[in-house]
Amino acid sequence: MNPLIAPSILAADFANIQKEVEMLNSSEADYIHVDIMDGIFVPNISFGIPVTEAIYKHAKKPLDVHLMIQNPDQYLEAFRKAGAAVISVHYEACSHLHRTLQAIKQLGAKAGVAINPHTPVELLVDVLEDIDVVIIMSVNPGFGGQKFIENTYSKVKRLKSLIQENGADTQIEIDGGVNLENAPKLLSAGADILVAGSFVFSSPDPILTIAELKSITMV
Ligand code: DX5
Ligand code: ZN
Repeated sequence: MNPLIAPSILAADFANIQKEVEMLNSSEADYIHVDIMDGIFVPNISFGIPVTEAIYKHAKKPLDVHLMIQNPDQYLEAFRKAGAAVISVHYEACSHLHRTLQAIKQLGAKAGVAINPHTPVELLVDVLEDIDVVIIMSVNPGFGGQKFIENTYSKVKRLKSLIQENGADTQIEIDGGVNLENAPKLLSAGADILVAGSFVFSSPDPILTIAELKSITMV
């Protein structure tokens, strides 16, 4: 099976956001990945609700919103209204993750949990059935264009086993440093969705690069 591809708009040209979204509309992308950074949970600030709304206005693909923010609960509704189809919060930023996941679902969005590179996948076992998608961070969140962390393969395999053991239908998404070299190995390890920012947007032909990522097969 081919992976689902979620290009990260963080690497796009923000001065031409409509053009960039239209490019993604005409590509084989399955989602538009939207990275929200608050300057507190992560050491960088990206953009927030009005820019998400502007992306949604032109998007023909579902928005996969990745909240890299402390205490995300108070903003869930606003991001849902701004067009998020999937809302992912960070495990490390939530004191009451189970409650947060229910709140996302009550808003009618799919519920995701992102985990930092140091967070073991095993910590999710008791909420696995409540999670639609786990984002395994393959870089430390905060910036695009970082180097892929090799330990990710082991985390993907371990999470895949946990999902199977628990009879859950949680998807596995990989975020950070994804390229055509590591993508086939990630797919083989059990990944379902691949986020790609700089690899797509800094390539000479982003539409072709998305198609290439989409057509990878297991190794
Ligand atoms: C990192 C973000 C990623 C990032 C991916 O904090 O969550 O989504 O945009 O960008 P690349 O593919 O350039 O690592
Ligand atoms: Zn992201």
